[in-house]
Amino acid sequence: MAKTLSELLSSTFLFLFTLLFFATTLASAKSNGFSNILSPAKLGLKQEKLSHLHFYFHDIVSGQKPSAVRVASAAMTNKSETGFGAVVMVDDPLTVAPKRNSKLVGKAQGIYASAAQDEVGLLMVMNFAFTEGKYNGSSLSLLGRNTVFTTVREMPIVGGSGLFRFARGYAQAKTHTFDIKTGDAVVEYNVYVFHY
Ligand SMILES: *[C@@H]1O[C@H](CO)[C@@H](O)[C@H](O)[C@H]1NC(C)=O
Ligand SMILES: *[C@@H]1O[C@H](CO)[C@@H](O)[C@H](O)[C@H]1NC(C)=O
Repeated sequence: MAKTLSELLSSTFLFLFTLLFFATTLASAKSNGFSNILSPAKLGLKQEKLSHLHFYFHDIVSGQKPSAVRVASAAMTNKSETGFGAVVMVDDPLTVAPKRNSKLVGKAQGIYASAAQDEVGLLMVMNFAFTEGKYNGSSLSLLGRNTVFTTVREMPIVGGSGLFRFARGYAQAKTHTFDIKTGDAVVEYNVYVFHY
């Protein structure tokens, strides 16, 4: 029943040889200089976290120094009830409280554009560029649909940088105040993101 020493040695040798063979082929397949497979630990990625961010978005279209400006529109935009075709570039302040002069935590930089004809529906493409505390220099990227007359609008967070690398999640936007005369709006944002 018991294996002889030479049998044991040869099966051990065969095992080691197979291991070496696969290790060599794997290594040569991976190191082609263009792409390779990394373990998450190599990038220092540990436990994924879930963060909640809360801030107010100030869309200022009126006055001497608007933070949102229309940069394009179609010939028919003026005739459209939903402003279909209007494209607005924003550098909107993000603050901790609804007051414009409350602590600034970052800016929403990007574009919103009227993309719906039967209701007011915006295509939102923007980065939240944070400047507060440890988040200074980190950003989150939002890409979504914003039907501004709905109480709560949900939009995907599709990525991020810095502390928000590999971010994914969603933002919920709720209009806090809208000034019909000026068109200025303050919108409350709750953002939930997974990141490392
Ligand atoms: C839309 O209307 C505004 C005035 O309300 C005018 O200044 C602008 O030229 C018009 N745009 C187009 C594309 O017709
Ligand atoms: C954020 O970082 C920039 C660049 O490093 C620095 O100039 C700025 O003072 C920082 N802001 C805050 C609020 O810490």
